[in-house]
Amino acid sequence: MNAVLNETVTEYTENYSVAHGEKPGVYVRTFGCQQNEADSETLAGIAESLGYRVTDDPSKAMLVIFNTCAVREHAELKALSVTGQLKHIKAANPEVIIAVCGCMVAQEHRLRTIKESYPYVDILFGTSAHSRFPDYIAEVLKNKNRVFSPDEVFEIEEGLPVKRESPFKAWVSIMYGCDNFCTYCVVPYVRGRERSRRREDILNEVRQLVSEGVKEITLLGQNVNSYGRKLYDDYDFADLLSDICKINGDYIIRFMTSHPKDATKKLVDVMALNSLPESRPHIARAFHLPLQSGSDMILNKMNRHYTTEKYLSFVTYLREMIPDISISTDIIVGFPTETEEDFAETLEMLKKVRFDAFFSFIYSVRPGTPAAKMPQISEDIKAERFSKMLTVQNSISLEKNEVYVGKTERVLVEGLSKTDGRMLTGRNDKNRLIHFEGDRALIGQFAYVEIIKADTYCLTGRLCAREAAE
Ligand code: 5AD
Ligand code: SF4
Repeated sequence: MNAVLNETVTEYTENYSVAHGEKPGVYVRTFGCQQNEADSETLAGIAESLGYRVTDDPSKAMLVIFNTCAVREHAELKALSVTGQLKHIKAANPEVIIAVCGCMVAQEHRLRTIKESYPYVDILFGTSAHSRFPDYIAEVLKNKNRVFSPDEVFEIEEGLPVKRESPFKAWVSIMYGCDNFCTYCVVPYVRGRERSRRREDILNEVRQLVSEGVKEITLLGQNVNSYGRKLYDDYDFADLLSDICKINGDYIIRFMTSHPKDATKKLVDVMALNSLPESRPHIARAFHLPLQSGSDMILNKMNRHYTTEKYLSFVTYLREMIPDISISTDIIVGFPTETEEDFAETLEMLKKVRFDAFFSFIYSVRPGTPAAKMPQISEDIKAERFSKMLTVQNSISLEKNEVYVGKTERVLVEGLSKTDGRMLTGRNDKNRLIHFEGDRALIGQFAYVEIIKADTYCLTGRLCAREAAE
C-alpha cells in the first residue's frame, strides 16, 4: 500500500505529536452497508498514513469523519441528527476538523443542507476520490477554508492505505457503482456507474490478506455477478472466484451482493467445487440473493429484470448442487402500487423458498428515483405488511435453525458475546450466529461447536475438542 502524503498535514500531525506527546486522534463513524465500512477503513488508513492515530472516542479526536448512507430516509435522518451533535465537539475545541462524506453527501440537496445548516462541518465529499482527502484536510489547516467536493469523477483508486478493523476478517471491493437502476434505489446516483477492479489487483490483495493470516474475506460489489463485464470479454465473477480459491491457506470467502438476473449456473458450479468439505472448502456455503418482491408485476415496476419463476429455478439449481446452502434475501414491502395480492405473493414466495434468513425493509421514497413519482401507499399499510411478513419469516428461520441442533459446526470465532461477556460468538460458513462458552484466546480462530439450542436469530452450542469433530 502507498502512503498518501501531504506536507501541510504531516507537518501539522508532527507538531501536534511533539506538543502533546501523542499523535492527534482520528475518529471514524460508519453508517450503512459493508461498502461504506470498507471505504471507512480506507479513510482511516489515509489518516493514519498522514500521522493520525485511530481512536474510538470522538471527544479525543482532532479529525472526526462521518461516512453516511442514503439508501433509506431513516439512515439519512440518523446521520443528520448525529452530525448535529458534532456542534458541541467543535464548540469545545474549534481546532477539531469535521468531515462528513459518503452516499448522503453525494446528493446535491443534502450537501446543500449540511453546507448551509451545519457551519461547523469543515469538509463535505461523496463516495469517491478518497485520494484527495489529504488535500481537503490541508485546505482547512492552511487556509481555514471549508471544502465542498461533490463527486464528479468516479475512478478506481488502487493502492490506498487501509486500516482494517479486524485482524482476521477483511472486506475486498471487487467493483464499485451500479448500472441497474432499480426504480427504488439511490445507489446508482450516489456511487456512479459500475466499474470493476482488475483481476490481478484483487488476487494480489487476497493473497496478501491470506498470507497475513486473515480467515474470512468478503468480496464486495453492488452486483458482484456482473464483475468484469466492461473490462474483460471472457472473464467473469465465477472465473474470479475460481482463481481466488487456488490461493492456498486456511480461509473462507464470502461475497455480496448478487443480482438474480445475472446469477449463473457457472457460478454455482464454481461454488460447489470450492465449498464442499471434501474438495477445496474455501467458499462459504451461503448465498445472499435479494428477491425484493414475490410479485412479478412489482418486480417489473422495480426494473429488476427477472420473474419469480426464474428466481425459483436458480434456487432449485443452487440446492441441487450444494444441498445445505444457506440462502438469504432482501425484501421491500410497500413498494408503490403494491396491492394485497402482490403482498400475498411475497408471503407465498417466502414459504416456497424457505429462506434461511432475510432482511426486510419498508419502502422509503428516495428523491430523484423513478419510484418516487409512482402512486405511494400509506405508512400504516406498509407497517402492517412489514409485521405480518416478519411473523411468517421468523417461524421459517426458527425451523431452519432447529435443523442444526445436534450437529457440529466449524465456526470462525469473532469475539465476546454482546449480551453475555462470558460467552464467545462466531459464525459458521452458512452465516449462522453461534454463541458458546470458551477461552477468548480462540478469537480469530476456527473452532468446532456442537449445537445444543436454536433460536430465531442465533444458535447456542458447546465447544468440542477439534479431534472429536474430525
Ligand atoms: N427503500 C427500502 N429499501 C430499499 N433498499 C434499497 N433501496 C430501498 C428503498 N428506497 C433495500 C433493498 C436492497 C437493500 C440493500 O436495501 O432491499 O437490497
Ligand atoms: Fe440498487 Fe438495484 Fe443497484 Fe442493488 S442492483 S445497488 S438495488 S440499483
